[in-house]
Amino acid sequence: MGTRVGEVTDTTAIVWTRLTQHATRNQDGVVIPGRVKQDERRLVKPTGPVEQLEGACPGAPGRVQVRYGTRADSSDAVVTDGLVAEAANDFISQFKLTGLRPGTVYHYVTEIPGPAGTPKETAYRGKFETAPAAATPGNLRFCVMTCQGYPDRGHPDGHPIYPAMQALQPQFTCLTGDLVYYDNDEPRAVTPRLARYHWERMFSLPRLVEFNRNHSTYWLKDDHDTLSNDSGPGGEMGELTFAEGQRIFRQQAPMADGPSYRTFRWGRDLQVWFTDGRDFRSKNKIPDGPNKTIWGAEQKAWFKRTVKESTATWKVLVSPTPLVGPDRANKSDNHSNANFAHEGQELRDWLKANVPDNFFVICGDRHWQYHSVHPETGLREFSVGAASDEHAGGSKGEDPRFHKFHRVRGGFLSVTLKADGAKSRILVEHRDVLGKVVHTWDAERAV
Ligand SMILES: [Fe+2]
Repeated sequence: MGTRVGEVTDTTAIVWTRLTQHATRNQDGVVIPGRVKQDERRLVKPTGPVEQLEGACPGAPGRVQVRYGTRADSSDAVVTDGLVAEAANDFISQFKLTGLRPGTVYHYVTEIPGPAGTPKETAYRGKFETAPAAATPGNLRFCVMTCQGYPDRGHPDGHPIYPAMQALQPQFTCLTGDLVYYDNDEPRAVTPRLARYHWERMFSLPRLVEFNRNHSTYWLKDDHDTLSNDSGPGGEMGELTFAEGQRIFRQQAPMADGPSYRTFRWGRDLQVWFTDGRDFRSKNKIPDGPNKTIWGAEQKAWFKRTVKESTATWKVLVSPTPLVGPDRANKSDNHSNANFAHEGQELRDWLKANVPDNFFVICGDRHWQYHSVHPETGLREFSVGAASDEHAGGSKGEDPRFHKFHRVRGGFLSVTLKADGAKSRILVEHRDVLGKVVHTWDAERAV
């Protein structure tokens, strides 16, 4: 299942590793094909042990450590304390690296220490780059992806967006929710073991392993990778509860026990916010009103305070769900839907009043790409689109009141910052699944 690196700041990072019984996924296991049909929401479990399924990666107990430094040959490397991988933590260890140098490429090796402290030959290598210090002019690129199905991934080795993103060498990437589909992809994750199987099967695909070992990622959850469609606190699907889904996501994401909403500074010119749309939400179907919420009071206060305090040239919210849309009229799950109109308007109005010039939204969740500008508030939003063409769909079509760009295909987003004397330039590019640019928006701003 490789390694993951997350929550990277200018001086810290988390390295994630999982010990497995075998060096490779169960490539010859039983394939459970396809998506769950909408009219047969079955709660059946597959017969036989999960380990026999295609893509399963049963865990193994042991002790793991991380060796890391700035040289590829590890000659300046230091070693963390060992952590114990065991069934209680799904054989997952998360190492918090501290005291790193800003704007620096780090090479790391996860390894099982030998009896006398000498590493065995199970060493597994990767790299990542720390954020520049807050005063450093921004010259960097990041990518954003969302919504990856398994049967409709478009290539046996994993979604074509992964090699396409890798070719761009992003400093970091946002995995913006719906990273597995517990309820839509067979077998439905009606037990915690089947939920973990979804992560094993997806993230052991060779292209995902290769990307995640060499690029840091920020992980956001949405409904399908927490429990089920439009899910929220209190929900359940068979034996899997929403609370267990929250716990499993936090274990799978390289984010240890940190908060589910957070913000990161990448040099002088960029600050990104990652919000959580699942943990604090009201029930979707209750009547809308001033107390109905997706973010919850605490997250909302944190968001407004930190956006206001930020001195970054560009401020970017990466949200698992839209704030602008437009979305299908029958949906009731996000800030662009009528059922959350109060909070949606509150946020858009606040952003117009406080950061009208240098703030925009990048959202996941919707399975089509768009660039929208909210007609009343001018809030700008870029929808990333599904991770494969096969997974795209759902839009009711272009709406000239909102859309600058609209495309019902898969792909991802790249954002590039360039410092040019006293100015900073930002370039947002929608890309198709192979990385070809299909839409561009850019802006310039004095720093
Ligand atoms: Fe999705």
